[in-house]
Amino acid sequence: MKRIAVLTSGGDASGMNSCLEVIFKACQKNKHQLFAFQYGFTGLVENNFKKLTKLEVANIYNLGGSIIKTARSAEFNSEEGVKKAYKNLIKNRIDTLIIIGGNGSVRGAGELQMLGADIICIPGTIDNDLYYTNQTLGFDTAVNNSVDAIVKIKQTMRSNDRGVVVETMGRNCPDIAIYSAVASQADILITENQSFDKILKDVKKVIKERTKSPLIIVKENLLDVAKLAEYLKEKTNTDFKSSVIGYLQRGGEPTVFDKILATQFASFTIDLINKGKTGKAVGIVDGKLISVDIDDAIKYNEQHENTQLLDIFKSLNS
Ligand code: F6P
Repeated sequence: MKRIAVLTSGGDASGMNSCLEVIFKACQKNKHQLFAFQYGFTGLVENNFKKLTKLEVANIYNLGGSIIKTARSAEFNSEEGVKKAYKNLIKNRIDTLIIIGGNGSVRGAGELQMLGADIICIPGTIDNDLYYTNQTLGFDTAVNNSVDAIVKIKQTMRSNDRGVVVETMGRNCPDIAIYSAVASQADILITENQSFDKILKDVKKVIKERTKSPLIIVKENLLDVAKLAEYLKEKTNTDFKSSVIGYLQRGGEPTVFDKILATQFASFTIDLINKGKTGKAVGIVDGKLISVDIDDAIKYNEQHENTQLLDIFKSLNS
């Protein structure tokens, strides 16, 4: 019997709750006790700690968000904060901490591990910015949400001969933008810095050759979509609108894909704990569950090789 704690960290991602419910089930089966630090690393630093009950986690499988709350912790970024967090693991006699989050969370796990903490990371972020795994929890739901919104926007724009510039989420990772552009049959996809002049040239080509209402998808943190729409409106004879889809992408019931991924990650994590194989980040590669050392998962964050779909988009739309 082990004392296991779980926390969710960074932006919430659909599938976190599904994962939590399955972790609870697997813990019960293996006679482990399950606790939570609420509000991510903030709760770990502040010892916002509680035992999870069956009542709380039953029937959360289909819920978006995170019932144990999540946060971005400023305090945990200091040496003092990490020490406090570690002390709270000791104080509560936690054998293994499960961290569900994105790349900031894996880096946080690395810091805690250096002090001696026993950890398993589960990738949970809509951004899909953990490169040791093909997919993170919540990414598929976010893309489905995004495509749903974009297709609706596209229909109304096409009926009015208007162009539109849509910004998707994803922080510095282009994956939501790429998948959304492909699945909504966008005309132009912007994932890297480009001058407005260059974009105008591409837009004029689309207007001439394809449609009077170009659909342009822009990755987050690149440019001001409202300004770009204004600029395009001024330089073409086409009305342009802009839309930042924002938080519509993050919530909602997880897709079946994310529910299954959550179930696989949760069950695999408890298996690893049972076998004493901790210090790992779990993931999925070519359909198979994998685990890598947390240190390696952090190193992988410096690479990005997921360009195949981008190349397909480019080859169809250049
Ligand atoms: O990491 C998930 C994410 O939704 C990013 O795509 C986005 O840049 C960021 O979180 C927004 O964070 P917050 O909700 O904390 O402002």
